[in-house]
Amino acid sequence: MKDVFQAVKLTDRVYWVGAIDWAIRDFHGYATTRGTTYNAYLVLAEKVTLVDTVKAPFRAEMMARIASVVAPERIDYIISNHSEMDHTGALPETLAAVRPEKVFASANGAKALRAHFHLDGGVTAVRDGERLSLGDRNLVFLETRMLHWPDSMVTYLAEEQVLFSQDGFGMHLASSERYADELPQDVLRHEAAKYFANILLPFSPLVTKVLAHVRDLALPIRLIAPDHGPIHRRDAGWILEQWGRWAAQAPTGKAVVVYDTMWGSTALLARAIAEGLLAGGAETVQVMPLAACHRSDVATELLEAGALVVGSPTINNTLFPTVADLLTYLEGLRRQHLAGAAFGSYGWSGEAVGRLDAWLKAMKVDLAAEGLRTVYVPDAAALGLARALGTKVGEAVRARRAAT
Ligand code: FEO
Repeated sequence: MKDVFQAVKLTDRVYWVGAIDWAIRDFHGYATTRGTTYNAYLVLAEKVTLVDTVKAPFRAEMMARIASVVAPERIDYIISNHSEMDHTGALPETLAAVRPEKVFASANGAKALRAHFHLDGGVTAVRDGERLSLGDRNLVFLETRMLHWPDSMVTYLAEEQVLFSQDGFGMHLASSERYADELPQDVLRHEAAKYFANILLPFSPLVTKVLAHVRDLALPIRLIAPDHGPIHRRDAGWILEQWGRWAAQAPTGKAVVVYDTMWGSTALLARAIAEGLLAGGAETVQVMPLAACHRSDVATELLEAGALVVGSPTINNTLFPTVADLLTYLEGLRRQHLAGAAFGSYGWSGEAVGRLDAWLKAMKVDLAAEGLRTVYVPDAAALGLARALGTKVGEAVRARRAAT
């Protein structure tokens, strides 16, 4: 195996020993349309150290990459920056095979590892700012609690200036290239934004704090080595800047109209609303029919938007199921500073729009108008009302944009 799966040398002492998952298309509800990687890193110091592992089915691949550099039994320390199983699934079997002297994690990480794997051996808890000597190299641990789990931390390898950032600054992107600057900029930007929008968005205030803390520490950073996707080398400043901007969630001139439809009436309203949005002052409109758009792609479009307009037909006195699915997902992501409105066609009872209004309010979307309900197929007058609704939201988008 070690002749097939080889480590990739990143610095004099650091090797990538992870795995590429070309096949995954669903990551707990997030559409990973370009697959992902599970990055693990080997530090060749006097104390040979493995930083994170991989998802369980990829353990043999990781071990082969390690073996292409050093016999796995020579690993002295394992650092677990984050307990989620895409990074620790391979840990129990790796521990059994390697028998390292010590495993290190944050205090919450030690608890989470015990709760996941019921390990007999202890995990040594490390504190924020604690240093660990590897003999001729030194690690520093920085807690990043709730980014995005309570256990999360990052590890800095001082002499090599490498920040092992676990999920931080990552993206779901399988590629044969290991460095971000070897990949097309539009792909990187899209996948980095999608990752932030779907994983980090609820923790934006903490992201802002951690970025400020990292700036204050003024650590020289040669590589940002995340646990998913490519490694940031020349573009390290770029990804830090993007995260800062996304965490701020400033309103933009873009509006997102998302809907599902039964017989095309709510779809017709959506198109009329899009016209009104532009007339009112939105700079651009993205119309997203849920029959064609995944919830995680809607979340991505909303990352840099100023308005969310949602439409649902009424079915059996309530919302269309795909719309309820979407709002359940978006509510958890807690996007801030959006204007919005609701709309939908109905046959005889029409509860869906009232439910949408209430749900959007609960999500702190600032409603620019009361929801629009139209019976069965909208006529010219109803489409005029839809356009007028869009115009009101467009005006709100323009005003909020001007205020920032
Ligand atoms: Fe990539 Fe939160 O695990």
